[in-house]
Amino acid sequence: MITVNLIGHENYYGLGDILRLFFGNVREDRDGHRVTSETDLDINITSRAEKDGAVTFVEGEEDYWNKKIPDRFKERVDLKREFKRQLYLILSEKTGRDYPWGSLTGIRPTVVASEEKSAEDLTSKYMVRPDKADLCMETSRNEADILGRTDKDKLNVYIGVPFCPSRCAYCSFVSEDISHHMGRLKDYSEALCDEISWIGRKLDPVTSVYMGGGTPTVFSDEDFAGVIETIMTSIPTGPDTEITIEAGRADTVTESKLKVMREYGIKRICINPQTLSDETLRKYNRKHTVKDFLDVFEKAKELGFEVINCDLIAGLNMEEPKELLESLSTLIGKGPENITIHTLYKKRRASLEREKVMGDDGDHRLDSVLSEAYKVLSGNGYIPYYMYRQKDTSHGLENVGFSLPGKECIYNVAMMSDRRSVIALGAGAMSKRMFGDMRLERFPTPKDVLIYIRDHEEIMRRKADFFGL
Ligand SMILES: C[S@@+](CC[C@H](N)C(=O)[O-])C[C@H]1O[C@@H](n2cnc3c(N)ncnc32)[C@H](O)[C@@H]1O
Ligand code: SF4
Repeated sequence: MITVNLIGHENYYGLGDILRLFFGNVREDRDGHRVTSETDLDINITSRAEKDGAVTFVEGEEDYWNKKIPDRFKERVDLKREFKRQLYLILSEKTGRDYPWGSLTGIRPTVVASEEKSAEDLTSKYMVRPDKADLCMETSRNEADILGRTDKDKLNVYIGVPFCPSRCAYCSFVSEDISHHMGRLKDYSEALCDEISWIGRKLDPVTSVYMGGGTPTVFSDEDFAGVIETIMTSIPTGPDTEITIEAGRADTVTESKLKVMREYGIKRICINPQTLSDETLRKYNRKHTVKDFLDVFEKAKELGFEVINCDLIAGLNMEEPKELLESLSTLIGKGPENITIHTLYKKRRASLEREKVMGDDGDHRLDSVLSEAYKVLSGNGYIPYYMYRQKDTSHGLENVGFSLPGKECIYNVAMMSDRRSVIALGAGAMSKRMFGDMRLERFPTPKDVLIYIRDHEEIMRRKADFFGL
């Protein structure tokens, strides 16, 4: 077992993240002032706050680490990050392992990149591997550029539909009982339309509207048309307002739904294959085929959608990592304007499962396949324009949105930035309001769809108050 004793500080969260990265499990013991990981390595580490910085050493090896760490890190960083990078260095040496993002475990590495002058800084300060540091710098610049073109005083609107007709086995976004509430879908569409029209009429023209899920196209053709009509007639838009609908699963996208969106002038849509292998789709209980995806994609193009985003997942454990490259090459052949690559996030993964699910060899292969995928995307003119990470992806790998130049999705950047206000409608949706340039406050909407259906009128009033509408 590894024990890290915290003295004079409370960075349990950050140090826990580093332990989880290396060992896949962590236990926080605030009474005992320590975090621990179950592993074969048996050492005690002290992580101590000093008047002018941080000191970390393996107990019994004080002299070695008290020299090695200051030699390695000549430049100061924020204290919270300092504790993490010192622990990372020790564990890296003790295990002989490095990770692509070094000691950066947070969900938004591009925020750290925006504070640095060059990719080399990310490598020297946080041990980020040079290829990731380059990717991060480039993405960070693109994010800043896109954000700079939006008005910080204008709102972005998110509309959430937390229903799916069935659950894909890998999915970490929706709960097991997602299909159990399907009988309340109509009630939900009515409550949602109430909220959209009541809030919508109070708004000034917005920067972007994004309807996501779950699967927004899960509604019947008629109810879907009703929701789209409510959005387009009640939310004020200007000539530059971006509107995106996450159609998602091809088995829910009918010609009628596509036509309704186009009739209202909607130009952006997501249709997500996840993989272009029928076998993998079947194994994960994702209820459409590759042909279904391609048919819907072609139909959407034919009807004049200008930007189609397609999500792929890297690291699906039911297929070989290299199959991602096959999916990507077929997908690029179809020419979607946006391609988002997510790395599989394994919910509540225990250390034993970690070995079973992927193993270190699998992690390495995934890492190199992902790097290859980025080269292919770049070679085909796609640029990375937003990035975030989830906890518990193998190797701490990232999710990256790529776009052909000029076709980027503003909503994705605004939402991830935590520097723009998002008013979020529907069950489980999280609103964020900016106060001035830096302070952000959140307003959650209850996750439970039955509570939302019952209480939405009161919820929307409180939400309007929160936004001062
Ligand atoms: C919230 S989901 C909604 C998308 C839509 N329902 C669909 O399936 O096409 C957004 C994206 O998250 C990704 N995703 C879902 N579960 C994931 C997991 N466990 N790890 C990584 N990405 C995941 C998928 O690429 C999916 O398209
Ligand atoms: S349809 Fe999308 S949101 Fe629903 S379970 Fe599948 S991946 Fe998750």
